[in-house]
Amino acid sequence: PPPSGFFSALELLIASSVFCLIFMAIRSYRQQMHKGLKRPPGPWSYPLIGNMLGRNPHLSLTRMSHKYGDMMQIHIGTKPVLVLSGLNTIKQALVKQGEDFMGRPDLYSFRNIGDGQSLTFSTESGEMWQICRKLVQNALKTFSVSPSPNSSSICLLEEHISKEADYLVKKFQQLMEEKKSFDPYRYVVVSVTNVICAMCFGKRYSHDDQELISIVSLLDGLEDIAASGNPADFIPILQYLPSHSMKKLKEFNDRFLAFLQRSVKEHYKSFYKTSLIQQSQEKRLEPNANIPEEKILNLVNDLVGAGFDTVTTALSWCLMYLLTYPEVQKRIHEEIDENIGRERKPRMSDRIRLPYTEAFIVEMFRHSSFLPFTIPHCTTKDTVLKGYYIPKGLCVFVNQRQVNHDEKLWKDPFIFSPERFLTADRMKINRAETEKVLVFGMGKQRCIGEAIARWEVFLFLTTLLQQLEFSGRAGEKVDMTPQYGLIMKHKRCEHFQVKQHFHMERK
Ligand code: HEM
Repeated sequence: PPPSGFFSALELLIASSVFCLIFMAIRSYRQQMHKGLKRPPGPWSYPLIGNMLGRNPHLSLTRMSHKYGDMMQIHIGTKPVLVLSGLNTIKQALVKQGEDFMGRPDLYSFRNIGDGQSLTFSTESGEMWQICRKLVQNALKTFSVSPSPNSSSICLLEEHISKEADYLVKKFQQLMEEKKSFDPYRYVVVSVTNVICAMCFGKRYSHDDQELISIVSLLDGLEDIAASGNPADFIPILQYLPSHSMKKLKEFNDRFLAFLQRSVKEHYKSFYKTSLIQQSQEKRLEPNANIPEEKILNLVNDLVGAGFDTVTTALSWCLMYLLTYPEVQKRIHEEIDENIGRERKPRMSDRIRLPYTEAFIVEMFRHSSFLPFTIPHCTTKDTVLKGYYIPKGLCVFVNQRQVNHDEKLWKDPFIFSPERFLTADRMKINRAETEKVLVFGMGKQRCIGEAIARWEVFLFLTTLLQQLEFSGRAGEKVDMTPQYGLIMKHKRCEHFQVKQHFHMERK
């Protein structure tokens, strides 16, 4: 007789095949339902594990969407996820059917961000959430347009950015003299954090502030947390395994929150006067808009959290593209020389006069697509999108990077070419083209800080380039490979060198 081990292996095989068949039958039965409407198509997935997304979900999900289309249902673990691609489909969902798609899923990593009370990552989308969002929007607007007490700058935002960018110019020159090459990231991150902190509670930190540096560097290597497709968000058992990243995220949260708490307390008076509460009174919002102090801390946490890593990454990608495409840097230099010259500092109002520089920034956003997906969404009710049935509570990934590299929208999408955003005479920005780029999301949860982020990138970049020329150390390769995450970063590059573009005479 065959050895008993043989039977048990066969039995196991039969049992697992039967299990798979039942699983697939149930799934396919569940897909053919609801008034004849079907669930969106999608690839076959393993029971319990779901689809394998690999190390680069932005690439694997885009490949899959070529086969299954703009609305695709995948599984991560046992949980279904709707993946949206294609500009029109995304617009239909997030704008035209915005109410239906404005939820946030209850994900494990979201619960670990900002005490679980974050405006951005919470599942709340009720009245309080809407009031908070409106307050933050108004406060940001006020910060950015309030006239500066210092008459040389038109507004506080311009003044803060200009001061920080000037500091960076000096710091880079000093590093060059002392070390012959350097990694700009560590300095850019403090400057960008300073801009948002100055707006929230009027405080600037030193570039040698060990506390701030050690807090922001805790984020290194945490890119995949809160990114679309983090396995621990979908396969609960993984949450109980020891995770170095989650431990680091918790440490970051605790220290960041304590740091902000102290800063808000120290500056509560000025913050109080200039921002959220005053906004709420001016706008005569309902009495329940009286936001408690803890909530303000959460809002500040959201703003600083959303505002420093994103803008730092954007600037850092700009510098990498300048290194890789010296001819592009030369054209930006020429544009700055011709339109601003050396007698005065760049201003926010110069943006309209520098279409090539603007096109460079938009092309950096498109080509890098460093936020490949928005923050995950979730449906708030049963709905129908493009003829497919979408149930309430379904987690939704929005593939921004696919839109930015869609062959149907772009000629040679993988080529870096700022020119694609200029009009035929190259004198102006072609708005119809820039509007196709998707980096800040769209609809009800679109980024609140978009305007500020665009101003920051523009003013930091022009102030740096007015005075400096960037290059890489001879013989060193620039590695532009992005590392997957909510915010995709390049590997740190220590080979940056600068020389004086020309000396600016300070007034
Ligand atoms: C280049 C820089 C930035 C990029 C690319 C960016 C992109 C995004 C994206 C894609 C979202 C999610 C949209 C969605 O889920 O549909 C978002 C949300 C958000 N962003 Fe930004 N962002 C940037 C800078 C900023 C800045 C500077 C601030 C604050 C001053 C900010 C504040 C926020 C907030 C509060 C949300 C959450 C909105 C909500 O859930 O309702 N962002 N951002």
